[in-house]
Amino acid sequence: MARRQLKGARILVTGASSGIGRALCVRLCQHGASVLATARREDRLQRLQTDCASLPGTLQIIAGDLTLDAHREAILQWVASQWGGLDVLVNNAGVGAIGRFDAAKQDRLRHVMEVDFFAPVELTRHCLPWLRKGNRPAILNVGSVLAHRAVPNKSEYCAAKFAMRGWSESLRVELAKEGIDVLMLSPSTTRSEFFDSLVDTDAQEKSRSLGSMSADRVAQLAVSALVRSKREMILSIGGRALVWAGRLFPRLTDRLLGKYA
Ligand SMILES: NC(=O)c1ccc[n+]([C@@H]2O[C@H](COP(=O)([O-])OP(=O)(O)OC[C@H]3O[C@@H](n4cnc5c(N)ncnc54)[C@H](OP(=O)(O)O)[C@@H]3O)[C@@H](O)[C@H]2O)c1
Repeated sequence: MARRQLKGARILVTGASSGIGRALCVRLCQHGASVLATARREDRLQRLQTDCASLPGTLQIIAGDLTLDAHREAILQWVASQWGGLDVLVNNAGVGAIGRFDAAKQDRLRHVMEVDFFAPVELTRHCLPWLRKGNRPAILNVGSVLAHRAVPNKSEYCAAKFAMRGWSESLRVELAKEGIDVLMLSPSTTRSEFFDSLVDTDAQEKSRSLGSMSADRVAQLAVSALVRSKREMILSIGGRALVWAGRLFPRLTDRLLGKYA
């Protein structure tokens, strides 16, 4: 299949104020794309815009909370009036939480599901008519290795990312006939602000992971997934090992994860 051209492509990126989303916006601008970047923190988006000003692409910003229908509609009004079509939607915004399920109240699950699942799903629903008018359209969902193998103490996050993966698989087949690609990128631990913004999480709770990737490396791999239309990409060797261990030796993996947690 021919490679997707990013030069001039109209790309909406959520969660653009920090981490993977920010790094991805910079890389897309380096490739000459036209980017619409969104997140809640407007000052961060303005700084990103300044940083991208000298790059070949263009970057516009629109600040707001993706869990609100009004913000999702504002984004789509912008897309309709300025672009009249959309080539790529990157559902990247996300939050996590750490801690035992039985120690949390229902608000934690609701918050994580709102940001990590319902917001991207409903944004996608709004975007579909405009993706249908796009060139070589694609939806890139940023999941997690924890969408493939769950671990203890992150039940809400695993549930949200599993939901995103199930929805992505279903949507991929539904949209295939229309030529809209649905791609899923599954990073492992990434150095970003993710662990500073955990929802309803005790400050003592720490994520236990072996190694991490830079947000820029994840962004580089995201660009490669887009250009090559890679339907599923688990980014790290450790992540792939966890997923395969879970499939081949599920009980042993449960025991090891139980001890490690
Ligand atoms: N870091 C990791 O270890 C890791 C591993 C696997 C997968 N991931 C996934 O990678 C994606 C990006 O995370 P990251 O590591 O780059 O974390 P990050 O630096 O914390 O970035 C998260 C982004 O999401 C935005 N966001 C959060 N809540 C929002 C809301 N209600 N409305 C609009 N935007 C919102 C944040 O912007 P504002 O706060 O300005 O709104 C921020 O731009 C997430 O989907 C995450 O699940 C991360």
